[in-house]
Amino acid sequence: MDSTMPFALLLALLVPTLLHFVIRRKYSSYNLPPGSLGFPLIGQSISLLRALRSNTDYQWYQDRIKKYGPVFKMSLFGSPTVLMAGPAANHFVFSNQDLIFTQTKAINTILGRSILTLSGEELKRVRSALQGYLRLEMVTKYMRKMDEEIRMHIDLNWVGHKTVKAAPLAKRLTFDIICSVIFGQGIGPIREALATDFETLVQALLSLPVNIPFTKFNKGLRASRRIRKVLREIAREREAALQQGHSSSADDFFTYMLVLRSEGTHSLTVEDIVDNAIVILTAGYGTTAVLITFLLRYLANDPDILGKITEEQEEIARRKGPNEPLTWNDVSRMKYTWKVALETLRTVPPIFGSFRTAVKDIEYHGYHIPKGWQVFTAQSITHLDGNFFSDPVKFDPTRFDNQTSLPPYCFVPFGGGPRMCPGNEFARTETLVIMHYLVRQFRWKLCCEEEGYRKDPVPIPVLGLPIELETRSPPEYAHA
Ligand code: HEM
Repeated sequence: MDSTMPFALLLALLVPTLLHFVIRRKYSSYNLPPGSLGFPLIGQSISLLRALRSNTDYQWYQDRIKKYGPVFKMSLFGSPTVLMAGPAANHFVFSNQDLIFTQTKAINTILGRSILTLSGEELKRVRSALQGYLRLEMVTKYMRKMDEEIRMHIDLNWVGHKTVKAAPLAKRLTFDIICSVIFGQGIGPIREALATDFETLVQALLSLPVNIPFTKFNKGLRASRRIRKVLREIAREREAALQQGHSSSADDFFTYMLVLRSEGTHSLTVEDIVDNAIVILTAGYGTTAVLITFLLRYLANDPDILGKITEEQEEIARRKGPNEPLTWNDVSRMKYTWKVALETLRTVPPIFGSFRTAVKDIEYHGYHIPKGWQVFTAQSITHLDGNFFSDPVKFDPTRFDNQTSLPPYCFVPFGGGPRMCPGNEFARTETLVIMHYLVRQFRWKLCCEEEGYRKDPVPIPVLGLPIELETRSPPEYAHA
């Protein structure tokens, strides 16, 4: 045996025990939740990350809930953390005013002064501006651009191909859509470089903030500088156009935010507007790409559901002229397709959970949560709970036939409360338009039936979901 082994074992036993006593002393007057903080800094982070990667996170939560109950403490990503399980816990985490978004050093440094890092009145103003930009009425205006991007992408990347990898294609498509909306026109040739830089930036958001060459954090920081440079130039151009009265449309994000500033709605500088554009771009493509990827994965194995979706989409197509773009009216008819998407979000939520930090001592179910501690709620805990969704492992879109019968806060793919995802209408619209064109043009088979997926931290099939494509003829199908 290695001579350092007994020492390491001793340390492994001693450190958590010592920490336990230190915490007990420090919070002697508190009724802390049960559980263990584990090793300092590391805590249960590696164990949870491992469970996410092997897609056993649901079991990971359940094992601990069985042991400690639905509220328990642990240590995640360097902070003491309380996991809370159940709809009431979701409501508490999403709505409590004394809980703020957890701001890691990586997020603060890479994303700058954005909606994710602001607080107080400034946060309210920025949140309301972003919500305004992504509200339904605005999304209907973006539909033409979405429709155009989607058709172009399919012609270029799907038509004529025998096999494609669905996951990277879905990511690229959702990235192109959000770019074309946020920037308006004029970034065509630099999209490629931006797409690569955004991938590097996203990878760095959960990294350790070690700024030495070749670390994820360092690469992310450099990518964010390059992105900022490009976006700053575009923002300044739009500002100059606006000042000279040349701006014809307020649909691009920069012009929209600059107009709101001139009306006194917020006081963000150009630099801040750039930071918020980076957040919308970052939040707005990987998540929807997961939904598209897993929709394709489920539909490959379920000809009945695919048949029903196709019927719905063909019916919509029959009312339109050839090559006529989809409108909001068309999307609002895609009710069944959206139920299938909701069931996909229930079974594979793109965001595995939400973290908040207590700004003062708070209490939940008789337990004290000290100031500075994190709280954490995981979506799969309620999404896969048989008390709310009967036979929860079954893929069954009909459970969304009557959505109002679901207890509040048990289905939370877009979060909830004042920080609920402002991009949900955007995500819904692009998902439905993408599915309209894909199901009408193609049938597909999984190249690898056994392909699993990991959460890294967003769910991704391990091989990127290679699928075999077959082109179908829409008119023939429509009249079958
Ligand atoms: C299926 C797709 C999507 C899912 C499942 C999703 C999920 C979520 C969730 C769960 C949150 C809240 C996190 C929390 O409370 O801890 C969130 C926040 C956010 N999402 Fe989405 N999202 C999606 C698409 C989008 C899109 C398309 C955009 C933009 C175009 C977007 C922009 C944002 C922004 C800016 C926030 C932060 C809100 C704030 O800080 O107040 N999301 N999203």
